[in-house]
Amino acid sequence: MKTTIQQIKEFKLRGEKFAMLTAYDYPTAQIIDRCGIPVILVGDSLGNVVLGYDSTIPVTMDDMIHHTKAVVRGSNNALVVGDMPFMTYQINVEETLRNASRFIQEAGAQAVKLEGGVTVADKVKKLVECGIPVMGHIGLTPQSINQLSGHKVQGRSLDAARKLIADARALEEAGAFAVVLETIPAELSAFITSKIGIPTIGIGAGPACDGQVQVISDLLGLFTDFVPKHAGQYAKLAGLMAEGITGYAKDVSKGEFPTAQQSFTMDSSVLDTLKQ
Ligand code: KIV
Ligand code: NA
Repeated sequence: MKTTIQQIKEFKLRGEKFAMLTAYDYPTAQIIDRCGIPVILVGDSLGNVVLGYDSTIPVTMDDMIHHTKAVVRGSNNALVVGDMPFMTYQINVEETLRNASRFIQEAGAQAVKLEGGVTVADKVKKLVECGIPVMGHIGLTPQSINQLSGHKVQGRSLDAARKLIADARALEEAGAFAVVLETIPAELSAFITSKIGIPTIGIGAGPACDGQVQVISDLLGLFTDFVPKHAGQYAKLAGLMAEGITGYAKDVSKGEFPTAQQSFTMDSSVLDTLKQ
C-alpha cells in the first residue's frame, strides 16, 4: 500500500520516528522500497551524486522528470517526492504550478519539495490548493549556496534562529505536510519540532526531528568526492564496486573470464561442416 500524506503526518502524532532516503534510479528505488522506507525523495542532489556537477544549481526540470519516472517505477509502497530544481518555483505562481504538475502528472510522484520558507509560502499555498502536496526545506538550502557563501551551519544567531522558526511556521500555515531541516543546530530543530504540527525531517539537524533523511550515495559510501559531516555511512559500496571491477579486469587479462558458464555452444555437426 502506498504511503499517504496522512500517514506521514500521523508519524509525528504517534511519536514514531521515520526514515526517508533519496533515490535517482529504478534498482535503488526498488531496494529502498522493499526495505519498507515510507518516503523516497528524488533529490536534486542528483546533480552532485549522480550527474557529477559541483552543486545542485545546474539541475533542470527535464533531468528531474527523467529520474523521477525511474524512481516511481521502482516504488510500490514508498511515497515519492520530486525535488523542484533551482528557479523552477521562484518566478511566479503559474510557472511553479506548471513545473510541479509535471512531477505529479508526467512523472507519477505524489508530492514535491521546494526550498525556502516565508518567501515561497504563497507558492506552497497555491500548490496545496491545487491538490499537490508540498514538503518544505529550510536551513542550509543548497540551491542558495552562492548567497549563503558555502556549506555553513544555519540559524546559530538569535536573528537567524527566529527567521528559521518563522519559515517553519509559514510553511505549516501554507499547508506543507512536512519540512526538511538541513544543517541547523540540534537544539534549534528540537525547538522547531516542538512548535509546529507537521513533521520535521532532519539532515544535519540532530536527533529530535520527527524523521531523518539521508542522501543514499552518502549512506552507502558510493559517492566519495565530498562526504558531509551529517552523513551516516552504513556501507562502503565504492570499495565493493572497485573490488568487483578489478577482479573482472584481472580475470580477463589472465584469460580466466569468461568460463564455460558464461559461454554458448553450437551443434558439433554445424561446426564440422563449417570447417570443411
Ligand atoms: O536533494 C536532496 O537530496 C535533498 C535532501 C538532502 C533533503 O534536498
Ligand atoms: Na535538494
